[in-house]
Amino acid sequence: MSESLGKPLDSPLFERVCVVGLGLIGGSVARGLRELQACHQVVGCDADAFSRQRAIELGIVDQACAELAEAVQGAELIVLAVPVLAMQRVLEQLAALDLGQAVLTDVGSSKTAVIEAAEHAFGRVPVLFVPGHPIAGSEKSGVEAARATLFRRHKVILTPLPDTSRQAVELVGKLWQTLGADVESMPVDEHDEVLAATSHLPHLLAFSLVDTLAARSENLEIFRYAAGGFRDFTRIAASDPVMWRDVFLANRDAVLRSLDDFTKDLARLRAAIEARDANTLLGVFTRAQAAREHFSTILARRAYVEPMHSQLINYLASPGGRLSGRIRVPGDKSISHRSIMLGSLAEGVTEVEGFLEGEDSLATLQSFRDMGVVIEGPHQGRVTIHGVGLHGLQAPPGPLYLGNSGTSMRLLSGLLAGQRFDTVLTGDASLSKRPMGRVAKPLREMGAVIETAAEGRPPLHIKGGGKLMGMDYEMPIASAQVKSCLLLAGLYAHGRTSVTEPAPTRDHTERMLKGFGYPVQVDGDTVTVEPGHKLTACRIDVPADISSAAFFMVAASIAEGSDLTLEHVGINPTRIGVINILRAMGGNIELSNQQEVGGEPVADIRIRSARLRGIEIPLDQVPLAIDEFPVLFVAAACAEGRTVLRGAEELRVKESDRIQVMADGLQALGVRAEPTADGIVIEGGPIGGGRVESHDDHRIAMSFSVAALRATGEIHIGNCANVATSFPGFVELANATGMRLSVEPSA
Ligand code: S3P
Repeated sequence: MSESLGKPLDSPLFERVCVVGLGLIGGSVARGLRELQACHQVVGCDADAFSRQRAIELGIVDQACAELAEAVQGAELIVLAVPVLAMQRVLEQLAALDLGQAVLTDVGSSKTAVIEAAEHAFGRVPVLFVPGHPIAGSEKSGVEAARATLFRRHKVILTPLPDTSRQAVELVGKLWQTLGADVESMPVDEHDEVLAATSHLPHLLAFSLVDTLAARSENLEIFRYAAGGFRDFTRIAASDPVMWRDVFLANRDAVLRSLDDFTKDLARLRAAIEARDANTLLGVFTRAQAAREHFSTILARRAYVEPMHSQLINYLASPGGRLSGRIRVPGDKSISHRSIMLGSLAEGVTEVEGFLEGEDSLATLQSFRDMGVVIEGPHQGRVTIHGVGLHGLQAPPGPLYLGNSGTSMRLLSGLLAGQRFDTVLTGDASLSKRPMGRVAKPLREMGAVIETAAEGRPPLHIKGGGKLMGMDYEMPIASAQVKSCLLLAGLYAHGRTSVTEPAPTRDHTERMLKGFGYPVQVDGDTVTVEPGHKLTACRIDVPADISSAAFFMVAASIAEGSDLTLEHVGINPTRIGVINILRAMGGNIELSNQQEVGGEPVADIRIRSARLRGIEIPLDQVPLAIDEFPVLFVAAACAEGRTVLRGAEELRVKESDRIQVMADGLQALGVRAEPTADGIVIEGGPIGGGRVESHDDHRIAMSFSVAALRATGEIHIGNCANVATSFPGFVELANATGMRLSVEPSA
């Protein structure tokens, strides 16, 4: 007995539907329609008497006919579910009949072949014919294997032509949605390429491998030793041979292209094994493992969608709580990015510990894998990078997708401007709105050829092979990303590159370059590099991220009775604005266990609750706390008196407009918060409950979670999946310290 599709419909969608071909797919369509009472009458048509008889006995159809002319009579919808190579004959028979206004659709897995068959049969493809393909199946075949739920939560791809009737497309879409499928549209060619690569090729390999092994072992003795791997890999070789024969003949061209690519790659692997080339093998396997993992996540979400933070998640932050204990927040995002970049450009093997396994730093990691660097991990914060040297990167196979990560895009643009190959850098919706002119402009002055979209936005098209000239650059804004971008370009430029900053910004790039043995000259506010040196692999211990620690520093400060210790936090002097500002507001913060690891100072930070007071935030602290302002605004809302921030217009071009978004959210919770052009004025006072929006910005989501500690009601925070970019495990860690935060999947 198959599981059920759910409640029958109140009224049928169709009067009469005809399913031609009572195999697994046709039988499952019919069974689903009948079970849901979506149709007054389901008529099946099949030349095979046994299939007709079983379809009736199993209650899959109301009526079963051998003759097409009889079966299609009066049908509003005809579903062709015969093997692809049999389509031609069926379509020719249909062309000779009067089908009235019946809508025609099919389930063939090669759309070009079916469309050509329809053209051939009818003279031109009928406007009421909607080519379709459910991506569902089973290694079992035949009408007896039919299941009403076969299509539930599976994709159905429709490939309508430009003149296909819109109503017909809607009707066919409705059929599949009723059966529980997700319906998508795609051009015919794209469909055939995608299917050749993701379905047809794997089936071919499974059939071929089983056949090869079976032929070698006449009594099939070796299969006794076949463990799970073989079984998993070859499961699909149990599928219907006739159907698959037809699929390969029908989708011949696209399959051949996929097969040729694969054969080439397989030959490369063979050569690597023969030559004992461990690096190539590890490269292929680590890249494949990462891709497979990524793919599992996509599958788990049951959608072929933008890979990063596409899932909608809301937070529910309940009022009250106090924080205690000792925790270590995840690794520093800025240092994690740089460890991958410099480790890749180094000579030798770099071992990283404490790497942030957040989406942003993983985007950087994936980019370098795409450029041929072998990177093992991350596994519990450990990453092993097999550096390729300053000139060893290879052209990536396609655009580098950097998700939400501004740091990846800005730093990479400098590094890539110095390569011999072209690259394209893309990102998600938020990154695609962020200004890249600040790096493109000075890089162009160095001789780089970079194209951006309108107003200097991503994507960036970077031309390789040009000549970069070193220069002295006075940055108009205090930006570590711009500084780092130009220093990385400077490694490839002729002559020296100097960058002067208007105010101190984080100096992780300079410190890490030195850690890799690359000379860097720092003279007051000017940093200089010259080409011609090399990076030598080293060990990197990534400290906990002070920007992530900041949420807990404010949380423990504002929640009465708190006493929390944050371990091994990076306290680089260019990052400690949050400590300085909280102390100036009266925060009770103690540092202990101070030491230097791999060129970066770290400490344990103990925070006890304190009565905070509003202050005027000193201008020199702004670049040192640039990422921590959203949560500092929450501290200000809990402080006595007024807090004023100026000189922070940069906040308007972060992952969101953090001034406006925080002001809106605070106001929604009843706090007096007035945005200004370059800052905000916040009056301390009570915080109410309510609904706020993160605007797809991780730091906004976490800041309002902290605000709940002092709120009088629940705070619902919309769209928080982005927290995964910088702080995987935030909710669990927050609850472990005493905060009251839960995840609400959104409808
Ligand atoms: C970063 C620099 C800062 C910061 C960003 C990370 C870095 O940006 O806001 O989150 O890793 O260099 P700007 O340098 O643009 O201020």
